[in-house]
Amino acid sequence: MSVVWQNNALQLDSRRVIDRKIYVENRIYDAEISRIFARTWQWVGHDTELPDFGDYLTATVAGRAVVIARGENDAIAAFYNTCTHRGAILAPHRRGKSDGGFTCLYHAWCFDTTGKLTAVPLPQAYPENLTRNACYDIPKVRCEQFNGHIFVCLDAEAPPLMEFLGPVAPHIAEATGDGVALGRVRWTLEGNWKLWHENFRDNYHPMFAHQILGQNYTGVKIEGENYDLGAGHSLLTFPSQGNPKQIMQTMSRMSGRKLPERPNILGRRTTDEPQRTRHNILACFPNLDLQYTSNTAASMVLQTVQPAGVDKAYVEIVAFGRKSDTPEMRQHRLDTALDAQTAAGKISGDDNEAARRCAVGFSTIDAVRWSNMDRGQEPGSVGAKNDEYSLRGFYDVYKDYMADALAEVA
Ligand code: FES
Ligand SMILES: [Fe+2]
Repeated sequence: MSVVWQNNALQLDSRRVIDRKIYVENRIYDAEISRIFARTWQWVGHDTELPDFGDYLTATVAGRAVVIARGENDAIAAFYNTCTHRGAILAPHRRGKSDGGFTCLYHAWCFDTTGKLTAVPLPQAYPENLTRNACYDIPKVRCEQFNGHIFVCLDAEAPPLMEFLGPVAPHIAEATGDGVALGRVRWTLEGNWKLWHENFRDNYHPMFAHQILGQNYTGVKIEGENYDLGAGHSLLTFPSQGNPKQIMQTMSRMSGRKLPERPNILGRRTTDEPQRTRHNILACFPNLDLQYTSNTAASMVLQTVQPAGVDKAYVEIVAFGRKSDTPEMRQHRLDTALDAQTAAGKISGDDNEAARRCAVGFSTIDAVRWSNMDRGQEPGSVGAKNDEYSLRGFYDVYKDYMADALAEVA
């Protein structure tokens, strides 16, 4: 194990403290990009976001621009978003519609939906037929799907997607079995990407950091579990507690407007098993999280966090609905996601500010080097929902990927 985790003045178990250098060192950040983001499967979209031939999404994966497009026979392919002529990106929007191919803005070279060069204007001046030379086709990126979710991976040697997802695959299927992506919102986080991902593995903070939830916990016994599922993935699961109506009333008061009546979600249970709705927070290594409820048709949100430097990241939230939703229900889901889960949302706004405060606090690293992740002392991989098994499980795998890159900056 790296000495970065061993030399701590508090003499705490090295599994249970975090060296704050991982949030501030540029060399560690560079190693995260090359060793984690360029080697793992990255969520880039959902099948329902590109329903027709020629539809596309763009993404940034380990700093590289990538296009994901639907082509003939419904096939979805991914390739680098760069023209092989002089480099301009071909797909300019986060989500767009091509006419069945991509024509470069600059000199109008044409590519199909898999990145193959199909035509070059004024070709006579070239010494060869460029479209016959595969070196002008855009290199492909590995692209696999599970349950409608589209992932890409830059590493030819990485295991297949299903092997990578391993224990989280059934939970993803439960979360979005008949899901439809309704819309996305994205913002800049003033802090390291790991702070955001940690936050979703941390159920110690909600009753304190989120004013809107705190009241709901008053006098309530904490229930629920925190599972380290292995491979860096985890699940926090807990029954619905307190009074949801009270939360809606608080949200209305904090919004200064009356929120629409909540559609009859609990009347739409998909099984008759539970008496209480369960809330689930699924965290997938390294940067994907899903929040959903079991056994009801209630809302589901998915989020990714993309690194953009040691002290900057992009958070993107995707609101999901169900294929069977009425238009009113879809609108309700979008309203709820926007109201609670965006940069200024009544829940994520607090998380945003917590991450920003940590990032500013790390300026004192010369005096205070270590962060504590020590909650939950029972051996094994499961504890109470507000324990930190999930966080420690993430960092066990993080350390494996980073290996000697951590020792170099100790
Ligand atoms: S850069 Fe694309 S055609 Fe020239
Ligand atoms: Fe939170």
